[in-house]
Amino acid sequence: MLKILGLDSYYGESRILNGISLEVPKGEIVGLVGRNGVGKSTTLKSIMGLVKTPKGTIELDGLDITHMPTYERACAGIGYVPQGRDIFPQMTVQENLELGLISHGKSAKIPDYIYDLFPILPKFAQRRGGDLSGGQQQQLAIARALVTDPKILILDEPTEGIQPSIIEDIGTAIKKVNKEFGLTVFLVEQYLDFILKNTTEIHVMEKGVIVYESKTDNADASHIQKLMTS
Ligand SMILES: Nc1ncnc2c1ncn2[C@@H]1O[C@H](COP(=O)(O)OP(=O)(O)OP(=O)(O)O)[C@@H](O)[C@H]1O
Ligand SMILES: [Mg+2]
Repeated sequence: MLKILGLDSYYGESRILNGISLEVPKGEIVGLVGRNGVGKSTTLKSIMGLVKTPKGTIELDGLDITHMPTYERACAGIGYVPQGRDIFPQMTVQENLELGLISHGKSAKIPDYIYDLFPILPKFAQRRGGDLSGGQQQQLAIARALVTDPKILILDEPTEGIQPSIIEDIGTAIKKVNKEFGLTVFLVEQYLDFILKNTTEIHVMEKGVIVYESKTDNADASHIQKLMTS
């Protein structure tokens, strides 16, 4: 579904990603973990065309998106939830979701399954986004990405700063959309337990390179933990 090959990424003159290659197969939930500042968010920003990628290629479902503007990548089927969510705090929950639809030229009807997935959203439909808890905002941000009916959902640290019960709900929702709709998911995390519990494949990043990859079932958790703390 998503294929990254030999990708370099830069902020100005400083190279952050160093020839990374990574594949997210259709129907899988792939996790990318690593310490602070190794380049996880930069990887997702590269996929969205938000940083310079002078070398390497990015393919989505057979389409070369390496040089596409961000908006076209989203329209090609990538639902992106950035780190720190970024919902509209002054707008209601419903307006946030409708904006997700409208920005993709879809009719303004929020699919029912979104509300089944996150029951808190219909309950708080008229509440301002900014008045939700961090975990509820994360659910709203994921829902807003899902209303566009993406081919792949990419999530940047969905558990960051969120209470355990909602972390569990988010993991359940991710697995549910994957199982029921076959949605492919690529998710970046620092919280290893969440990745071990909710993914099918794991990649570990150290300073701009991938240093370990495995099917989650066979993953060496203590080795990954070492890579993430050394
Ligand atoms: N806008 C920017 N301009 C310059 N350098 C940046 C910018 N954003 C990030 N960096 C640098 O790029 C490197 C990788 O950052 P990135 O945000 O991808 O890390 P990360 O793995 O997502 O970390 P975290 O777990 O803290 O979110 C870091 O050294 C960071 O300081
Ligand atoms: Mg990050």
